[in-house]
Amino acid sequence: MTNLMNAIIVLCEGQITLSKEYIGQDKNVLVQYSTCPEYGSNVNALDTRQIEDVCGNTCTTSCFTPSGGGPNPNDCHIIADALRFQSQNIGALFTIGTGTNNTVVIQFASCLSFFVNQDTAPIEYCRTDWANLIDFIAPNCQATQNAHGGLCVATNQQWFAQVQHS
Ligand SMILES: *[C@@H]1O[C@H](CO)[C@@H](O)[C@H](O)[C@H]1NC(C)=O
Repeated sequence: MTNLMNAIIVLCEGQITLSKEYIGQDKNVLVQYSTCPEYGSNVNALDTRQIEDVCGNTCTTSCFTPSGGGPNPNDCHIIADALRFQSQNIGALFTIGTGTNNTVVIQFASCLSFFVNQDTAPIEYCRTDWANLIDFIAPNCQATQNAHGGLCVATNQQWFAQVQHS
């Protein structure tokens, strides 16, 4: 048995990881609060001190070409279900901070997804919305579509969610 507790998801060079935990019914889906140097906070969608709830906001999906090396959509579906389980048992919303804490990374087996807050203020997103995005992107950005994962960028650039091979 591998020692899950030592695992860390490596997303990029220069990554900063602030915390990690296992979620889901079987506690086998790893979630990290991290950041990558290239994901800065660069928009200011709403000038408010309140944390903005961005659940249901529209985003535009793009797949990464070419085909080959995408995540297994079944692994991605386990992540999506872990997020739904968390939504039911912990809460509908999760907060994504700014600066060095603007990225939430989640991984199971071949599938990795991360959510970046590009706003200069913290935002809240629905766990079930993230689950639905993962369940949409993973099977629709596969070899058949000449792709290997993809992302969905909020219409106002405030955030994006990506799905790729771990
Ligand atoms: C990172 O952001 C999350 C969500 O806002 C928060 O719960 C956590 O405490 C933050 N971590 C650090 C080290 O600031």
